[in-house]
Amino acid sequence: MNMKKLISTLLIAACVFSLAACGSKKEETESKEESGKESDTLVMATNAEFPPYEYYEGDEVVGIDAEIAQAIAEELGMTLKIEDMAFDSIIPAVTSGKADFGAAGMTVTEDRKKNVDFTDTYATATQVIIVKEDSDIAGPDDLVGKKIGVQLGTTGDIYAGDIEDAEVEQYNKGFEAVQALTQGKIDAVVIDGEPAKEFVAQAEGLKILDEAFTEEEYAIAVAKGNDDLREKINDALAKLKESGKIDEIVAKYISADDAE
Ligand code: ARG
Repeated sequence: MNMKKLISTLLIAACVFSLAACGSKKEETESKEESGKESDTLVMATNAEFPPYEYYEGDEVVGIDAEIAQAIAEELGMTLKIEDMAFDSIIPAVTSGKADFGAAGMTVTEDRKKNVDFTDTYATATQVIIVKEDSDIAGPDDLVGKKIGVQLGTTGDIYAGDIEDAEVEQYNKGFEAVQALTQGKIDAVVIDGEPAKEFVAQAEGLKILDEAFTEEEYAIAVAKGNDDLREKINDALAKLKESGKIDEIVAKYISADDAE
């Protein structure tokens, strides 16, 4: 190869190389700009009718899930935005991409797994039965043929539906079911243990039965196949569990002596 040929080959190679480099750099900037607005915001779908996991303090949604989600967003260097909606709208919001994830004291169930993927679990929970203090209902078996109040679309709703001859009254908010119980419109409420404690404390003449229904686990729901976000959340959750941050958040909202 003569000198001229060598130089032109080198020049072509350098050119091709720099073009490629240039091209990829441009692409990077573009994709950053395109998604810039959304990519640093993490939208959480929830139903803020569920103390101590999510509820309003003034016009701010606070609670265990809100704070865990905030801590996750911080780990990921993103800004959290909370969208409050009906409980049974959360999964549709996640599957349609309106929300990035759902965090709502949501129990992992096989049925829900058909529509969303769940992160690692971050809390265990139970379904309990609330009755009037003088009720003759003493356990799950006594619910046969009774009028049972639940929050629409929750696992309590599903369990109550399985009880023989029971009439299930579905309310949009768990607390509305508890109020109906106070007013004598229904015989019992089936709901998660921690909100049950909060609601019973706010009402008169109600008690929670000792015998719980189920053991459940809460996790965060992401769109099916969104492994990237699911893994990022799992990594953040692992860090927050290890650093004691999750325990700290839970302790802020649930006093140790009444934790299950
Ligand atoms: N753990 C129950 C479920 O997953 C109830 C959750 C209700 N959560 C709420 N934020 N209202 O069905």
